[in-house]
Amino acid sequence: MTTRAVVRGVGHYLPERIVENAEFETWIDTSDEWIRSRSGIERRHFAAEGETTSDMACKAAQAALDHAGLAADDIDVLIVATSTADLTFPSAATMVQNGLGMTRGFAFDVQAVCAGFVYALANANALIASGQANRALVIGAETFSRIMNWEDRTTCVLFGDGAGALVLEAQDGKGTPEDRGILSVDLNSDGRFKDILYVDGGVATQNTGVLRMEGKEVFRHAVEKLAATAHTALEKIGMTGADVDWIVPHQANLRIIKATAQKMGVPMERVVVTVQDHGNTSAASIPLALSIGVARGQIKPGDLVVTEAIGGGLAWGSVVIRW
Ligand code: UT7
Repeated sequence: MTTRAVVRGVGHYLPERIVENAEFETWIDTSDEWIRSRSGIERRHFAAEGETTSDMACKAAQAALDHAGLAADDIDVLIVATSTADLTFPSAATMVQNGLGMTRGFAFDVQAVCAGFVYALANANALIASGQANRALVIGAETFSRIMNWEDRTTCVLFGDGAGALVLEAQDGKGTPEDRGILSVDLNSDGRFKDILYVDGGVATQNTGVLRMEGKEVFRHAVEKLAATAHTALEKIGMTGADVDWIVPHQANLRIIKATAQKMGVPMERVVVTVQDHGNTSAASIPLALSIGVARGQIKPGDLVVTEAIGGGLAWGSVVIRW
């Protein structure tokens, strides 16, 4: 018998304000055509003034709890994947714990930038598999609109805000890839590449800073590393792209999503794509896409779902889930 972390509920939240590509044309030298053709992005949501990462995380978390038919106090561990926590400390996770009225268990943040949700899932899986938690609430939430340089056309058109959440629960499985739940994890990082994607502020500078990215370099690593990590995660359970029902990739760039699917031998009809509507929401992008994939009727119980992401660090990884 193997203890598996099985998905019990999913939910998301997007801030009300939608910004179309054309809006950027009013203050920077860009075009809807460039943004669409280079990234696949058509629009994104931006948080309202005063609306924070933990506010959005609470809403996504409550939606996932409602979907699971559970209350906040049924959860043992709450993990928030974010690089844009409201404050330097305490964690966004403890703020969400308080916001949900959850007075037991434990909560902490995971910071692996765009790979954050994959890392958070891996942590939740380990806590459940080792018997330290029976139920986990795993959230990805970001307000990247607060770390943009609005004069830098190479970055500010690419990102958006939002939150998504998953409820996981311990369930006994047979130990085979037919089990429901998290079946395989592959995590990687390489700090030699810390300077190609970073925020130039923080405790060291005593200001929040803005995002800086060498887009072409990150693109090159993404195309190479995402297919490789997904392949490794699948190989661990004796599976290949041919066994995959859905790829739910990090939503940064449609060209990266397509290239990765092609390398994995998975047709685009089996890829959940939301980048056109959300832009890059960093650690929120995979749980948002999972929740929307379920709401659209794409992802169904029993499906083999592969998530993969890469971001600042560089940090990257993949988690395979039998839904
Ligand atoms: O989530 C973390 C992971 N992040 C990513 O995965 C992002 C990875 N990178 C990318 O998605 C792409 O590299 C970008 C979308 C950022 C850029 O696409 P690209 O095809 O690599 O374009 P580029 O950076 O090579 O720029 C091509 C041209 C440049 O002009 P020149 O030098 O050829 O004259 C840029 O200055 O496009 C110009 N450009 C723009 N033009 C209009 C850059 N940004 C813009 C813009 N509007 N917003």
